[in-house]
Amino acid sequence: RIAYVNGRFVPHRDAAVHIEDRGYQFADGVYEVVPVFYSQLIDEDAHLDRLERSLSELRIAMPKSRQVLKMISAEVMRRNQLTYGFLYMQVTRGVAPRDHKFPKAAKPALVMTVRQTKPHTSEQLEKGIKVITTPDIRWQRRDIKSISLLPNCLAKQEAVEAGAAEAWLVEGDGTVSEGSATNAWIVTADGKLVTRKADHLILSGITRLSLIEAAKAAGMEFEERPFTVEEAYAAREAFLTSSTNLVMPIVQIDDTPVGNGHPGMLTMRLRQLYIDYVT
Ligand code: PDD
Repeated sequence: RIAYVNGRFVPHRDAAVHIEDRGYQFADGVYEVVPVFYSQLIDEDAHLDRLERSLSELRIAMPKSRQVLKMISAEVMRRNQLTYGFLYMQVTRGVAPRDHKFPKAAKPALVMTVRQTKPHTSEQLEKGIKVITTPDIRWQRRDIKSISLLPNCLAKQEAVEAGAAEAWLVEGDGTVSEGSATNAWIVTADGKLVTRKADHLILSGITRLSLIEAAKAAGMEFEERPFTVEEAYAAREAFLTSSTNLVMPIVQIDDTPVGNGHPGMLTMRLRQLYIDYVT
């Protein structure tokens, strides 16, 4: 495997950044995960738009022009012969002596890696996944795709220890914000497709955006609004979206089966709509 680190293509096992990189010391950086199928990056421009926005919110300069970033991502894919999986991009504020305030002369550090994975099998999709719910203890700027992911890691670990695949994070008012690394969706008891509006309390998922476009193009209606855990327990269907899961059916939330306890029909249709839309 080959990684890209600050201007060089290096063997993955030797790839390293400096111990005083602010990403390492302060989680002072942002990232993107871009899905790859059929050797193609999916929605790369939308991911680069979000990267640019995250960086500008933290006042970190784009490390390269968009055109150059695309050349590097294509080269990392080519050198690794990536067919299915994802590309990881990370930009940190760079290396400087440890001091909380922004350094004057740090140069943003750019890393790109790829991971080959296997498409979900039809058995996995027919089984669906379980999620648990847990309080959302994150900060108020979840719209920034920051590498500071400790609350997300704690929530995901809690899910895994409970035999679930994801944790849905719950606000003080009982509404679900999103998953630890995914966006949350339900199909209500009366058949409405619902997901939270993308404000500063959630990450605006690129899979979420494309699925919304695909659903609209197919003439489907949906509501952008918060939903409560209680509403999710009573939902007909539930699913999550992310670059690593695409559209994944949820069959159980905490101890409550969703619908008949099997992946929903609308969910499976949306998964196919999404795949057709982005490929
Ligand atoms: N996670 N919400 C959070 C908190 C996320 O971390 C992610 C992505 C999403 C979904 O966004 P997208 O559809 O653009 O992947 C929502 C990535 C995959 C990760 O951290 O690995």
